[in-house]
Amino acid sequence: MRTSFRSVFIAIVIGTALIVAALIVNSRRPAVEVLQPSAQLVEASGKCAECHTRETSGIVVEYRRSHHAQQGVTCLDCHRPVKGQGTIEHRGFTIADTVTPANCASCHDAEYKQFERSRHAAPAWAAVYGSAPFTAEQVAYAEKYQPGAVKRPPNALVQSEGPAAISAGCATCHAVGRPHADGSIGSCTVCHARHSASVELARLPTTCGQCHMGPDHSQLEIYSESKHGVLFALRRNQLNLDAKPKQLTTADMSVPTCATCHMSGLGGMNVTHDVTERLSWYLFEAVSQPRPDFAQARARMQEVCGNCHATGQVKSFYAQGDSVVAATNAKVAASLALMDSLKAEGLLTAAPFDQPIDFVAFDLWHYYGRTTKHGAFMGGADFAQWHGNYELLAKSVELRAMAQELRAAHRRR
Ligand code: HEC
Ligand code: HEC
Ligand code: HEC
Ligand code: HEC
Ligand code: HEC
Ligand code: HEC
Ligand code: HEC
Ligand code: HEC
Repeated sequence: MRTSFRSVFIAIVIGTALIVAALIVNSRRPAVEVLQPSAQLVEASGKCAECHTRETSGIVVEYRRSHHAQQGVTCLDCHRPVKGQGTIEHRGFTIADTVTPANCASCHDAEYKQFERSRHAAPAWAAVYGSAPFTAEQVAYAEKYQPGAVKRPPNALVQSEGPAAISAGCATCHAVGRPHADGSIGSCTVCHARHSASVELARLPTTCGQCHMGPDHSQLEIYSESKHGVLFALRRNQLNLDAKPKQLTTADMSVPTCATCHMSGLGGMNVTHDVTERLSWYLFEAVSQPRPDFAQARARMQEVCGNCHATGQVKSFYAQGDSVVAATNAKVAASLALMDSLKAEGLLTAAPFDQPIDFVAFDLWHYYGRTTKHGAFMGGADFAQWHGNYELLAKSVELRAMAQELRAAHRRR
């Protein structure tokens, strides 16, 4: 009995001493070590998730699968208000009334800065609504990197089609560059989604294809018919689409997707959120001009190709693309010159999109001219030919016939 009492007593003394020692050691640890991850934040994710599992369970499932959850980024890390945002008192927490790139930028400033320089930012929104929605500083910043892209009037179709059409159509795709009340611009979630925050998703061609499709910019369709797109379908399950961007090699991506050519840091290149950086032509223009940094931009893109192709092959591919741009420019310029002379002869109204010939002239370059050039530069032979050059020919014949008709009608008057 006595021995057993003594051993219990000793055990209690030692146990107490250990706890006290632990408390002393802990109190001397630096604050960051004790508070990281902060107790309030751990509680936040737990509480938000516990309740939201009952309310909106899909969100919690997506969040738990994300790299964010694995790295201890909590619900409140994104939903906490940053400068310029309104607040909501929500179940004992203060959350922001919105989540914008300003929230993401508090941890991903480098990505935001690259994004902000690109045509995905302010230029995308200005393409529809002009410069009015932006502050003078935002216009000046964007114009420094993308001359002429923001300082412009709203698109003529905004007037012709009306606000309901524009917000359900144009604005949905062009929201990639929408301005927010907190002073930030654009959307990170169009490519990464809100709660998945996934690189794997952003590397899928269909993610870019949400917006990059249709007759005026058939990039998804062109990619699907290219050798790259066909091979992507074959290799889909062998590619490591979740690979860490800064360590991406051809062992992860032996076949390129949109992201690989336009954004990835394949084989030690820089990852970029500036999708403009690797482009040499303004292909979307009626008559395509070279971009200000033509040679540098081209060198960057060719460095991507160089991970998988020999230099000679890449150069001859580009030479063919350049020749298609020159030929298309000549065809489009001839048709636009015809429109100019009709205007000078007083046969066209001043307003856009109010005579049938306006539409033929617009489709000619906006659909078929662009498709020809995009097809040539991304490996879509059918788009360069049947959806491109052939239609260009047909529309230019139609345009000439309509011009003759307008002139004849004018003489009869
Ligand atoms: C006790 C339950 C509960 C807790 C805790 C909770 N929420 Fe909610 N939350 C709700 C309910 C209910 C809704 C409304 C859902 C609906 O409209 O279907 C909601 C809606 C939201 C919305 C949408 C608001 C809107 O007006 O569109 C956000 C964002 C949100 N919660 C984030 C959070 C975050 C972040 C936390 C933790 C910091 C959190 N919630 C904690 C119950 C809760
Ligand atoms: C990576 C940042 C991020 C994290 C982490 C995050 N959210 Fe969100 N959440 C967003 C964004 C962005 C939106 C869209 C907000 C907007 O459009 O204003 C959003 C929207 C929501 C909404 C409204 C969605 C809808 O479709 O109606 C709810 C509810 C919500 N979040 C709850 C949560 C909960 C609960 C957690 C944690 C389990 C969480 N969020 C973690 C970024 C995040
Ligand atoms: C509190 C800081 C914080 C906030 C806010 C935050 N992130 Fe993150 N994000 C991280 C951390 C940490 C990682 C993990 C990095 C790693 O795995 O190396 C990460 C990783 C990512 C990744 C890479 C995921 C992958 O699949 O590899 C993406 C994409 C991302 N974040 C997007 C966003 C977006 C979009 C927002 C805003 C809606 C956001 N983040 C808000 C801290 C944050
Ligand atoms: C399906 C998504 C989508 C819709 C809808 C859409 N766009 Fe676009 N738009 C794009 C994409 C993607 C590009 C980039 C094309 C390229 O660079 O080849 C683009 C390019 C443009 C450009 C040329 C680039 C520039 O900055 O000058 C203009 C102008 C434009 N869009 C205006 C509009 C207007 C106006 C509407 C509605 C009447 C509209 N878009 C509807 C996705 C869309
Ligand atoms: C046009 C689509 C798109 C948009 C918009 C976009 N991203 Fe990304 N992001 C990507 C792609 C694609 C990758 C992966 C690149 C690669 O293949 O390595 C990526 C990678 C990332 C990473 C991981 C970077 C690294 O080096 O580990 C982070 C973090 C991230 N994005 C945050 C953001 C934030 C914040 C925004 C908004 C300012 C944003 N992204 C907007 C497509 C996008
Ligand atoms: C939500 C719609 C949307 C998504 C998703 C999207 N884009 Fe875009 N993208 C646009 C619009 C709109 C433009 C035209 C901007 C302008 O010039 O006015 C554009 C322009 C571009 C340009 C031309 C930039 C320039 O300088 O002319 C490239 C390249 C591009 N996007 C690549 C991508 C890639 C790669 C992805 C996927 C990783 C992607 N985009 C996802 C809407 C989108
Ligand atoms: C093999 C590499 C590669 C792939 C894959 C690829 N592109 Fe491209 N893309 C290019 C090249 C090269 C150009 C022309 C570059 C130039 O002007 O110098 C281009 C041009 C563009 C432009 C035209 C910008 C303008 O000036 O009008 C857009 C937008 C674009 N690509 C988006 C996409 C999308 C979306 C996908 C996937 C569906 C994709 N690209 C797949 C290499 C690629
Ligand atoms: C990640 C690797 C990768 C990158 C990057 C890449 N390609 Fe490819 N490309 C391939 C593969 C694989 C094939 C199929 C080759 C075969 O038939 O074995 C291919 C096929 C092609 C073909 C068709 C060849 C034929 O005769 O059928 C062309 C053209 C081409 N690539 C051009 C380019 C250009 C231009 C770039 C850069 C803008 C580029 N590629 C970037 C992997 C890549």
